[in-house]
Amino acid sequence: MLERAVHGASRWVLDRVDPQWVDYVASNTMTDINRRLNRFIWTYELQAQVVRVIDEAPGVKTFELRPNQLWRGMQPGQHIEVLLPVDGERAAPLRRHYSATMLPRGRLSITVKRLIGGQGSSWMHEHLRPGVLLRLGAAQGSFVHRGQAKVLHLCAGSGITPAHSMIESQLSGPEDQRSDQQLIAQFSRTEDIIFKAVLPRWQQAGVKVDTVFGGQAGARLTAEKLQALCPDVLERDVYLCGPEGFMDTMMSHLASLGVDLARVHTERFTAPSALVNPTGAFSAEGTEVVFKHLGQRITLTAADQDKTLLQAARDHGLDLEAGCCQGMCGTCKLTVHEGEVSGNTLGRAVYMCTAYPASRTVVLGA
Ligand SMILES: Cc1cc2nc3c(=O)[nH]c(=O)nc-3n(C[C@H](O)[C@H](O)[C@H](O)COP(=O)(O)OP(=O)(O)OC[C@H]3O[C@@H](n4cnc5c(N)ncnc54)[C@H](O)[C@@H]3O)c2cc1C
Ligand code: FES
Repeated sequence: MLERAVHGASRWVLDRVDPQWVDYVASNTMTDINRRLNRFIWTYELQAQVVRVIDEAPGVKTFELRPNQLWRGMQPGQHIEVLLPVDGERAAPLRRHYSATMLPRGRLSITVKRLIGGQGSSWMHEHLRPGVLLRLGAAQGSFVHRGQAKVLHLCAGSGITPAHSMIESQLSGPEDQRSDQQLIAQFSRTEDIIFKAVLPRWQQAGVKVDTVFGGQAGARLTAEKLQALCPDVLERDVYLCGPEGFMDTMMSHLASLGVDLARVHTERFTAPSALVNPTGAFSAEGTEVVFKHLGQRITLTAADQDKTLLQAARDHGLDLEAGCCQGMCGTCKLTVHEGEVSGNTLGRAVYMCTAYPASRTVVLGA
C-alpha cells in the first residue's frame, strides 16, 4: 500500500520535473533510508514503472512505461532491453529486446506478442500490471529513420512495432518536417491487426496505410501486389521487419522489382534459423576488410580463420559497437558495398557478429 503510494508520487514527479534535476537530487541524497523508502527513484538502476496495459489484439499487449530519471532517451525505431525476473528477484534475469515508442512526458511503450512456449513474453503478459517495476537497458539499434524523404515500412505481425515508433514520432513533430511515409503491414487475419485503433489517425495525417492478410488463400504479398500498393517503391527507403520467412520473401520481391538493396533497412526479432558456417570453405588469411565509414582497413591472418567479422575486427583493434552478439539486435549491422560475406546477411545488410568474409576484399560501410 505504502509502496504503491510512493511509486505513484514518484511517477507524478517524473511526469513534471526535468529528470536531470531528479537525478541530481536523488544522487546527492542516496541514503539507506531513502533507498528503502523508494527503490524507484533512489537507485543506480534504470527502471520503469508499468503505467497502463492495453490489449492490442489476441495475444498482443502494449505496456506503457514511466522510466525513472536514469532514462537517457532513444531514437524512434530503436529497441530496449528488459530484464525479467522470471525465476525471482535473486536469480539472473531473462533479457529480451523490444522496440519502443516514445510517448509524451518522457514515457514510452512496448508492444509484446505472447509466443506459445515463450518464456519472457508469457511472463510479461501474466505479471506486468500497473505499478510493477521493470529493469531496463539503454536504447540501442540502428533501425532508425535517417531523414529520408520517402519511406516504406514493410512489416508483418509484431514487426510493426518499430514502424509504430517512427511514424508516431514523425506525426508528433512539425508538419512541414514530415517525410512521406507509407505502411504495408501483413497480419494473419483481420482480428490480428496490431495498433488497429491508431491506423485511421495515421491515414488522416497523410500516411498511406495498407493491411494484407497472409492467412487468407491468395492474399499474401506477392511482388506484383507490392508494386501495385507502392508504385513508387524505387524512390523509397524500405524499413523491413517481421518473421524470418516474411523478410526473406520480401527481400527477393524487392530485388525482383529493382529496389537498391542498400536502401532496404532491416530489423530481425529472432536469430536466423540457419547460419552458413564457412569453416574450411574459405581461407581468411590475406583478406582485406575495409570499414569505409571509419576510414580503417584490416588484413586478416591465419589466426582470424573462423572468426566472425566482428571478432576479427575487434582483435585487430577496432572499437566496433555490438549488442546481443547473436545476430538479432542489429547493433553491429553494416552494409556490404563490395565483395562477399557469408553467414548472417539479409540483402546487403551484414550482421557482423554472425557473419564471415567470403572474398579476398570486403568493403563495409554504415
Ligand atoms: C531488436 C529486437 C526487437 C524486438 N522487438 C519486439 C517487439 O517489439 N515486440 C515483440 O513481441 N517482440 C520483439 N522482439 C522479440 C523478443 O525480444 C523476444 O524474442 C520474444 O518476445 C520471444 O521471447 P520469449 O522469451 O517469449 O520466447 P523464448 O522463450 O525465447 O522462445 C522463443 C521461441 O522458442 C519457442 N520455445 C520456447 N521454449 C520452447 C520449448 N521448450 N520447446 C519448443 N519451443 C520453445 C517459443 O515458442 C518461441 O517461439 C524483438 C527482438 C529483437 C532482437
Ligand atoms: S546483431 Fe546484435 S550484436 Fe550483432
